[in-house]
Amino acid sequence: MKENKIPVGAIGLGRLGYLHAVNLSTKINSIKLVAVAEPYDTVREKFSSEFNVKAYKDYHDLINNPEIKAVVITTPTSTHVEIAKEAINAGKYVFTEKPTSDTLAGAKELYEFVEKKDAFLQVGFMMRFYPGHVGAKQNILNGKIGKPVYFQSCGRDSGVPKLEFVKKSGGIIFDMMIHDLDLARWYLQSEPIKVYAQGGVLMHDYLKGIDLDEAIVIVEFEDDKMANLEVSRNCKYGYDARHEIIGDKGAVRVGPQRDRPYSLFTTFSNKDQHFEYGKEGELCDSRKIDELCSNAMLQWQSSYIAEFEYFAEHIMKDIKPELTAYDSFMAIKICEAAYRSIKEGKPIYLK
Ligand SMILES: NC(=O)c1ccc[n+]([C@@H]2O[C@H](COP(=O)([O-])OP(=O)(O)OC[C@H]3O[C@@H](n4cnc5c(N)ncnc54)[C@H](O)[C@@H]3O)[C@@H](O)[C@H]2O)c1
Repeated sequence: MKENKIPVGAIGLGRLGYLHAVNLSTKINSIKLVAVAEPYDTVREKFSSEFNVKAYKDYHDLINNPEIKAVVITTPTSTHVEIAKEAINAGKYVFTEKPTSDTLAGAKELYEFVEKKDAFLQVGFMMRFYPGHVGAKQNILNGKIGKPVYFQSCGRDSGVPKLEFVKKSGGIIFDMMIHDLDLARWYLQSEPIKVYAQGGVLMHDYLKGIDLDEAIVIVEFEDDKMANLEVSRNCKYGYDARHEIIGDKGAVRVGPQRDRPYSLFTTFSNKDQHFEYGKEGELCDSRKIDELCSNAMLQWQSSYIAEFEYFAEHIMKDIKPELTAYDSFMAIKICEAAYRSIKEGKPIYLK
């Protein structure tokens, strides 16, 4: 049994890392979590005794463990480049959380390193694995909405983060909207050329001068495509993430409702296919159909599992993931341009 499973080590047991480690330990059949690394004693010891895995205080010891074939990195963003490069040098398959770096230069350094080493590195843009997005993308690839030309999203969080988190998060666009920016590139299959953004603090005075609680970003893409994205921490009714892709023959909408992870709208001339509810996705457990999740990590739990299943499958087949360090670099590039646009009050050209 053990021999058929990929031996994985997880680095970082914080807010998301702990959940990742639990998922790796209990939910992914083809993975065996053999070790964790976390400097914080209480958390490390708790996880180690509950899940019966080796636990290192220093992540170098985990990377140097020859038994471990793949590494999952869920440490603070500023540490990703260093840890990922070290794991690659040790010959490991690597999954690292988004963003790959807290700077554009760091993200460039990592994707160039991955390319030079011909390494395997998957980035944690888990929204691509949400059943609604999987279904929407498949419909687009099947030509159901024609050529996708416009992407619209909102990502509204209910939680009010602590100041210490906000200070090291890189800001709301970098921390939250980066997922939507990745989806925009993925759906439109096009690269950004111009970014215009506005942002403000609408409800949380303590964020003034430190971060925004509301931002709107408009991106012009090559091939006459556009995206319009909103991100917010002002959502008092739950965690509300919605995405819509318009094509020249229809549209597909991915919303938070669990009974229909996506809705497909096609042209009026084709009455039979005018409207179709997506069938993929987990049904709501205890929530009522139109109730939202209270936070992002609940909303994306099935996606976190799916991204690790994809990770394991690609390791087994030794095929590189489609979701790469370059995708993270490009998303960070748009984030940086958005912040510059807000500061300078003008559009920023990327090419
Ligand atoms: N994809 C998503 O939905 C999502 C959601 C939340 C966070 N994230 C990303 O995950 C990463 C972690 O975020 P978080 O909110 O869990 O942060 P966190 O601060 O709660 O946790 C980070 C953990 O890493 C540990 N750590 C720090 N340095 C370490 C080192 N050198 N070796 C081992 N462990 C170390 C810390 O002690 C802490 O327990 C960030 O990059 C963040 O952007 C992604």
